[in-house]
Amino acid sequence: MNQATIKEASKYIENKYTGKPTIGLILGSGLGVLADQIENPVTIEYKDIPHFPESTVAGHKGQLVIGTLEGKQVIAMQGRFHYYEGYTMEQVTFPVRVMKQLGIESLIVTNAAGGINTNFNPGDLMLITDHLNNMGTNPLIGKNDDGLGERFPDMSRCYDKTYIEHAEQCANELSLSIQKGVYVGNTGPTYETPAEIKMLRILGGDAVGMSTVPEVIVANHAKIRVLGISCISNMAAGILDQPLTHTEVIDTTNKVREDFLQFIKKVIHTLPQ
Ligand code: 6GU
Repeated sequence: MNQATIKEASKYIENKYTGKPTIGLILGSGLGVLADQIENPVTIEYKDIPHFPESTVAGHKGQLVIGTLEGKQVIAMQGRFHYYEGYTMEQVTFPVRVMKQLGIESLIVTNAAGGINTNFNPGDLMLITDHLNNMGTNPLIGKNDDGLGERFPDMSRCYDKTYIEHAEQCANELSLSIQKGVYVGNTGPTYETPAEIKMLRILGGDAVGMSTVPEVIVANHAKIRVLGISCISNMAAGILDQPLTHTEVIDTTNKVREDFLQFIKKVIHTLPQ
């Protein structure tokens, strides 16, 4: 995707909305309800936006919702594009480029993830402190467009430290217990085997999912500050004596929905600029 396609998409969106979102939100499986709380929303379906891919996963809506949340102008993705759906890494991360073009300075990325850390429980929220890119590729492979970012981006603070501290404080003020840890991005669509989960634990992973890493890489390339939040929807394979199902993922995110909404709204209300 070149700057022309990014600008075409952002122009289309700007024509539907008069304002300037500063915070981008990517809402994962079962967490899209946050977008329903946006005031004076302008909703744009992905399929109507030039160069946007179309979302295919059940439980994911495919639309942008732009408006005000907790006094901040936000642009939310209700549903994201996954690599396992067959999209290229460029397509998966294209919305991040467009949100940057629209002026966002911060990105809050959420996902449902499997718990690798045995101290975690389904329903826990985890602040992502770092990630392992286990997808076998990188969205920045190819000729670098210096207008979008530098060739060799630093990733040593790819999840903003100030944001992590801010989110921790918000959780404390709500008496909400919150975990912190390393997110492993796998391609999916299979869940991992027990042996793979054991390996990922040894390598330092605390939670595993099929998203987030590409978007966070591109956000860092674009110098957007990132906060990442995983909802631990289930324990990863081999930890409990039970099989993994997408239904469990959805059921758990439904259960923690209220906590999640309350928490993220507080985070947004006083997000440091
Ligand atoms: Cl256990 N693995 C992966 N890759 N993604 C998940 C998950 C597990 N649980 C929710 N999403």
